[in-house]
Amino acid sequence: MQKTAIIGAGNVGGQTALLLMQAGIRDILLLDVAGGLAKGKALDLEDCASIFKRDCVIEGSDDFSLLKECSVVIITAGLARKPGMTRDDLLRKNSEIVSGIALKVKEYAHTSIVLVVTNPVDIMTSLVAKVTGFDTKRVFGMGVSLDGARFANIIHQELKIPVTAIEAVVIGNHGQTMVPAPALTQVSGKPLATLMNKEAVARLTQATVERGAAIVGYLGSGSAYFAPAAAIADIVKAIVNDEKRALGVCAYLQGEYGVKDVYLGVMAYIGKHGIEKIVELKLSPEEKDAFHKSADSVRQQLRSAFREK
Ligand code: LAC
Repeated sequence: MQKTAIIGAGNVGGQTALLLMQAGIRDILLLDVAGGLAKGKALDLEDCASIFKRDCVIEGSDDFSLLKECSVVIITAGLARKPGMTRDDLLRKNSEIVSGIALKVKEYAHTSIVLVVTNPVDIMTSLVAKVTGFDTKRVFGMGVSLDGARFANIIHQELKIPVTAIEAVVIGNHGQTMVPAPALTQVSGKPLATLMNKEAVARLTQATVERGAAIVGYLGSGSAYFAPAAAIADIVKAIVNDEKRALGVCAYLQGEYGVKDVYLGVMAYIGKHGIEKIVELKLSPEEKDAFHKSADSVRQQLRSAFREK
């Protein structure tokens, strides 16, 4: 029962399936209420197996009872942003979609690890945890590892240092109050904060916050999917191979950084049980303050999301 399910056969779901196949994941289920879309993409994807020389079975379906064979479930279904929208504008519609999916996951895949991707991801992850009632170690979201990858790329573009020499850290909400951490971000082993002045750091930080919206603006319809899928595949590999590797995820905090009972982006060791351990980084007073503000903004959104139910 080592199947990995991807719910939502849109751009993020399809690209994730491709990367998982390439990474050697052998059994993939692509689910979508639009069964034809899932089936069509699955056929197209299974044609890749011979090119990649991968022994992979991939099935597309609209039958959610197939989730019973899955140990990892990735939720990507929902609306994506249009130009001018924030991730939070998706709240109402995506809450309905994701609650319905969470009920199916609870019914059919009650021992699975659930990775939530649908935006606004901090709220959607909280919703999935609430609806399923699963241990919060098994329910977490993808957001800040994508933001960290973007921050690393933006630093690389600015400093012309290979991106492979940059370990960027972004925590907090996957949204307007995200917290890129320049003191913890390493560039060739040195903290970014020692390599540029505060104004330059603030400019790169802002570009990181705006990166998703910039992509949406160019695409005109839909949002980013290559890097989101790469970030998802990286997390899934850590789970399936029990890597216990530190990655940025949206995790349930129970006192870490002085924040309690809220889902928010942090670094955590990811392995076969899901969140093996949350890493508590040493934040500067400004970063800690920004992290708390980020938690407050998520709490406020949660209150309005659950009030509407
Ligand atoms: C982004 C969306 C996927 O950041 O949240 O591009």
